[in-house]
Amino acid sequence: MSSRDISPASDGESAAPQARDIFTTRLGVIAATLGSAVGLGNIWKFPSMTGQNGGAAFVLVYVLATLLVGLPVMISEHAIGRRGRADAIGSLRKLAPNTSWWLVGAIGVLAAFSIMAFYTEVAGWVFAYIATAIGSMFQGASGALASTDPTTTTAVFTKLVTNPWLSLMLQWVVLAWVGAIILAGVSKGIERMTKRLLPLLFVLLVVVGIRSLTLPGSGEGLRFLFRPDFSAITPAVVLAAVGLSFFKLSVGMGTMITYGSYFREDQNIPATATRVMLADLLVSMLAGIAIFPAVFAFGFEPTAGPSLLFITIPAVFASMPGGSFFLVLFFVLAAIAATGAMLSLAEVPVAYLNEQLGWSRKKATLATMVLLALVGSTAALSNSVLADFKPFGKTMFDLFDFGSSNVMLPIGGIFICLFVGWRWSYPELKKVLSNDGALRNERFIAAFRGVVKFVSPVAVLVVLLSGLGLLG
Ligand code: PHE
Repeated sequence: MSSRDISPASDGESAAPQARDIFTTRLGVIAATLGSAVGLGNIWKFPSMTGQNGGAAFVLVYVLATLLVGLPVMISEHAIGRRGRADAIGSLRKLAPNTSWWLVGAIGVLAAFSIMAFYTEVAGWVFAYIATAIGSMFQGASGALASTDPTTTTAVFTKLVTNPWLSLMLQWVVLAWVGAIILAGVSKGIERMTKRLLPLLFVLLVVVGIRSLTLPGSGEGLRFLFRPDFSAITPAVVLAAVGLSFFKLSVGMGTMITYGSYFREDQNIPATATRVMLADLLVSMLAGIAIFPAVFAFGFEPTAGPSLLFITIPAVFASMPGGSFFLVLFFVLAAIAATGAMLSLAEVPVAYLNEQLGWSRKKATLATMVLLALVGSTAALSNSVLADFKPFGKTMFDLFDFGSSNVMLPIGGIFICLFVGWRWSYPELKKVLSNDGALRNERFIAAFRGVVKFVSPVAVLVVLLSGLGLLG
């Protein structure tokens, strides 16, 4: 018997009409959905991209993209999922039978694999850094990460990523960890885990943020984060910001369709999505506040890019009193964040195999993890064995990263908007988003419909074409 056969609706309130395993509480929905959104995107991508693309101006474009595109797509996906009550492909099949709309879900499954391929590797580095940071804490000044000199921390990082077997093994550890939670099911695995871990993440982030802000000279970092300079903004940077807004909110690829299908019937979709979006922004800002003031206070460069987390941050923490302890906290919080996101990524193919092909949850999880290990190995080895293998001039790691955020998610997002904006009739949309008239949010729905019909798809298309240099 698969865990989906267990009905969670024992509290008398109407939940799913079918006996699917769904999120059992409203808080659980928020925890799981926010757990999906919050991830390495906040702690690794957002700060490094902000650092590379001119600070506050990039943040502004990113926030705008989140409001105009990310949030509407998230609401659309939740609506599709709860209406379809199936995995991403299954939901679209049910809602638009005998059409090609299910392909949007299929691209989503592909995107889930692309993202997981590099994400599991970065998560593996985070896991490894927890161990190294704990070691350093006890070794004092001679610890591997105790140096304030970035060349030393660079050496630690290089040694890690260029070791092929270690890279693969770290990825397998991460996959086993994610697989074990997924196996426990939607409510007993994902919901329970994210409900426990998220509060811890907030507390850790606030603690590290306070430490960073109380350093002398931290004001420079805050100015960097909040005072815009628009000269760094190019079409490619705008595309990167839009791509980040998709990646951040886990939209454009069916994750939120899948999670929406686990929502209760009485869940207020627009309110839930808005809360998740705001909380996710808050986490990114907190991560920025934890990182940039410290970076500036100790005279490091904010432009390090993806290595900011693994090279600059350890050096920064080594420069502050009590730093080795805060470094451990920092990587623990990164691992927590990565876990919730990976659960939602893996759930997309697992739900598909489970529901469309009728595989047991166990078989679906195992197959997904094995396939992810195979696909992911090309990303894991792209700093060692496959370093010179560069299709389209990018390593496999970079290709998975760029291709998913800057191509697949925006394309998926456009089609999801078109589906909800054009394929659904207005009465149908109203029914879904107002919980059958129980919520009085008619004005919101009218405005929302205008946005997903015209504003978001056109904006994403223009940004996509110009960002890829296709508009001439
Ligand atoms: N939102 C996650 C993060 O910021 C990544 C993610 C993307 C998760 C797409 C699921 C789907 O880390």
